[in-house]
Amino acid sequence: MLFFGGDYNPEQWPEEVWAEDVALMRQAGVTIVSLGVFAWSHLEPEEGRFDFGWLDRIMDQLHAGGIKVALATPTASPPPWFTLAHPEGLPVTADGVRLTHGSRDTYCVSAPAYRAAARGIAGELAARYARHPALALWHVHNEYGTDCRCDLTATAFRGWLQKRHGDLDTLNDVWTTAFWSQRYSDWAQITPPRATQYLPNPAQVLDFRRFLSDELLGAYVEQRDLLRAANPDIPVTTNFVQGGWVSVDHARWASEMDLVAVDHYPAAADRNAEAETAFGGDLARGWAGGGEWLLMETGPNLIYTPGRMHAKEPGRLTRHSLNYLARGSRGAMYFQWRQPHGGAELFHSALVPHAGPDSPVFREAVGLGRTLKALDGQVTAPAQAQVAIAWDAPSWWALQGGGLPAADIDYLGAVQQAHRALWTSGVATDFVFPGRDGFAAGLSAYKIIVLPHLYLVSDEVAAALRDFVASGGHLVAGHLSGIADPAGRIRLGGYPGAFRDFLGVRVVEWRPLPIGTTIALDNGDQGVRWSERVETAGAETLVRYAGDVLAGAPAITRHRHGAGTAWYVSPGLDDDALRRLLDRVATEAGVPPVLPGLPPHVEAVRRGDLVFLFNHGEAPGTVPLPAPATNAITRRPLSESVTVPPGGTMAVELESRSDAGCPAG
Ligand code: GAL
Repeated sequence: MLFFGGDYNPEQWPEEVWAEDVALMRQAGVTIVSLGVFAWSHLEPEEGRFDFGWLDRIMDQLHAGGIKVALATPTASPPPWFTLAHPEGLPVTADGVRLTHGSRDTYCVSAPAYRAAARGIAGELAARYARHPALALWHVHNEYGTDCRCDLTATAFRGWLQKRHGDLDTLNDVWTTAFWSQRYSDWAQITPPRATQYLPNPAQVLDFRRFLSDELLGAYVEQRDLLRAANPDIPVTTNFVQGGWVSVDHARWASEMDLVAVDHYPAAADRNAEAETAFGGDLARGWAGGGEWLLMETGPNLIYTPGRMHAKEPGRLTRHSLNYLARGSRGAMYFQWRQPHGGAELFHSALVPHAGPDSPVFREAVGLGRTLKALDGQVTAPAQAQVAIAWDAPSWWALQGGGLPAADIDYLGAVQQAHRALWTSGVATDFVFPGRDGFAAGLSAYKIIVLPHLYLVSDEVAAALRDFVASGGHLVAGHLSGIADPAGRIRLGGYPGAFRDFLGVRVVEWRPLPIGTTIALDNGDQGVRWSERVETAGAETLVRYAGDVLAGAPAITRHRHGAGTAWYVSPGLDDDALRRLLDRVATEAGVPPVLPGLPPHVEAVRRGDLVFLFNHGEAPGTVPLPAPATNAITRRPLSESVTVPPGGTMAVELESRSDAGCPAG
């Protein structure tokens, strides 16, 4: 069954509305809803007093309507009674302010009272609903990520540090506490990073984020185990959220999920929304180990951009939804089913908006439901790409602090830019995760590995990348990759210390560009944001700096190492220049686009024998087909080409195993 539905909050509505909800869900072809995500105060109105009557009724009504349930544990939003009874369960900010209830996500994950209450409500739900016929999935919590710096957190942090570093001498060494007289002589002296006079110790900040990721994961696992014990046949997940503020290393969490579920909200109204959709889908598939995952939330009819909500144009909801599907999602789910008439998110996007079902978004949802129904059973394994980008949450965290050489260093931006370059060229892209078990072995599946800002690198990861090149791969390292060890200590002797040998370069000076300036390159491109003094040590210089004191010095290099090639890209590049460079690498590595000959703005994504075509442009796009094909939705045979209308989507089934022009599926 393909999942189609979203967050459903019947507790926000009188019961008369529920019958209409179920009828409309059936009309739209909804197959599953996430129920009870923030319903704790309705389920447990007072400590230990439960009210499951309403949930029983709606579960039964949904079941009668043939709609499955992803039942949530509501632990992201403890009720007011909890916070009054257990004030130590409220989070404390780095400034020492204890927050109070009134919003959501107001809990301290290290507070025993919070953990006990969370286990309590999860256990009650497990006992009551684990065998309910509507239950298809457990949705634990919501978007883990809440940060707390209280004393209970401090105790837990110290315990985590003891496990990680063993003794204080090691911690002092790894944290470079000799700097600014921070040497610790007792574990009790160590706190979470809190408001302090000037820059905090970056190693302390980094370890705190790793700790918080593990601490939150512990809370998830506790609930998951309870739910699993009640019925081992029901898969358990939580919805990953991505953001610079989120101290969750999803690559490490993924192995604890029965199905990786992801919330994804592109944050641009222009074509970048499509690039971001592709990025989010590919990253989620990477977290899922290349297999199926689930889009748990996205905005149906709105894109949230800074300071403005942007209504999606007709067809865009469908295009985005099927794009996630094409990239490996088991379907498409949204926040949310019915737009609330009050509450903090009353203007957030919904399948049934304030206007009701007589609205463009609901009509498009009905059409999408039909399309998904037609595709059900036809989507098989997600396609494997031949190019992978490395994603590393700790590197992101390490590049967020103050004290860096440039305030505009943007880890996420660098990774997205690399992905966008490949996306623009129609090259399928995976993600690989240096911290994850099996990283080294997994590299052999790829012809090209791209490293944007892979700042922290262990010796093992450096060795795996070196072997990848030696055995014939193409590796493209950008600046700020291979710089530090996992604790954030610089690898000395010239940047990038971890990769110098196989890149055949030595960077002796960073020269971040003054804001608003660029630096000329001798191929006619401009370097942006960043430049460096690079010395070659075996590498061939492909492009040189042509301006500033760097004139004539290497900017982009290529080095044969064993049977492979390692490229080094020292300057920042704009999108177009980066795309051209990666096109060149793809050509040299023999990596074709998903479909050759695509018109501009038409995107092709392959999943098994299905090729999804997305026309993001304003003119029809005619796509030559590499093999006999069928329209996967209408089941009509297609001729040698198909025309995708502007803003439209098509799913084409290529005759089985006709792989001409397509990377291996
Ligand atoms: C998600 C969150 C939802 C809702 C939504 C709004 O990140 O899980 O509860 O807040 O954003 O778009």
